[in-house]
Amino acid sequence: MAELQSTKKAFVTGWPVKHSKSPLIHGHWLAQFGIDGSYEPIAVEPDGFNDFISGLAENRFAGGNVTLPHKEAAYRAVDVATSHAQKLQAVNTLWFEDGKLHGDNTDGYGFSANLDAANPGWDRPQRGIATKAVILGAGGASRAIIDCLQSRGFGEIIIINRTIQRAQTLVDHFGEPCLAQTWDQLGDHLNDCDLVINTTSLGLEGTSWPDLSLEQLPKSAIVTDIVYTPLDTYPLQRARACGLRTVDGLGMLLHQAVPGFERWFGVRPQVTKELHSLVVAALEGTK
Ligand code: ATR
Repeated sequence: MAELQSTKKAFVTGWPVKHSKSPLIHGHWLAQFGIDGSYEPIAVEPDGFNDFISGLAENRFAGGNVTLPHKEAAYRAVDVATSHAQKLQAVNTLWFEDGKLHGDNTDGYGFSANLDAANPGWDRPQRGIATKAVILGAGGASRAIIDCLQSRGFGEIIIINRTIQRAQTLVDHFGEPCLAQTWDQLGDHLNDCDLVINTTSLGLEGTSWPDLSLEQLPKSAIVTDIVYTPLDTYPLQRARACGLRTVDGLGMLLHQAVPGFERWFGVRPQVTKELHSLVVAALEGTK
């Protein structure tokens, strides 16, 4: 007779994974709903990733999250990938359905849900011309943002990067309406720009930002960041100094967790101020 198991199990895997705030987020929701479930961090080296995936069903996981550096390997490992995951060729959320391993990428959802919550209408400014976004950076993290802005119907997506070839590779992959530009062309794109998104790792690991001048942005523009350590990044500080609206990156992390929790545990959770404060306190505690 099969072993009876009522506890629903989920995980987050990465290498390393100990910095992940996902166990705190899902643990908060499990407690809030009184669900008999678990969400555990599991560190898996790149060489062991495929074996880890092969053992998921036997270990009775309902599914889980995948973080760096396994998102591309997870995409290759799933039986069924959503259209978002196919476009990004990267998966951050896994679940079983009809005996098959499914994969989605919820980073773009997290990005747009965060802006929807903070600034409803962010993708439909009133000025009556095509919406324009400037993305700073062309690393892996920028891909989900481009996909999201395309699906929200942005008219121009300018990708600014130090290494222009990386930005051009993204333009070749995503197509219209993306344009690759260098940092010295940033000023050409600000005076009719509705949204600026930082996806670079500038400011992290000892790198410092060059001066970032945002004065030319329209007063209606929004500046957001996907970095949340620190929460108040240099681009957000510069934007506030110009009187612009800003949205920090922590909300993206919280919102991207929602679809996974619903798939594994059957309840759609809410991103609340209480949850935001809980994670901020944990981030401050690990400084
Ligand atoms: P990922 O791991 O997400 O693929 P990454 O390789 O760490 O990303 O790079 C993140 C982004 O920050 C890239 O756009 C990178 O620019 P390059 O493609 O030119 O490397 C950008 N970035 C990191 N350090 C930078 C610096 N000192 N100046 C300018 N851009 C920088």
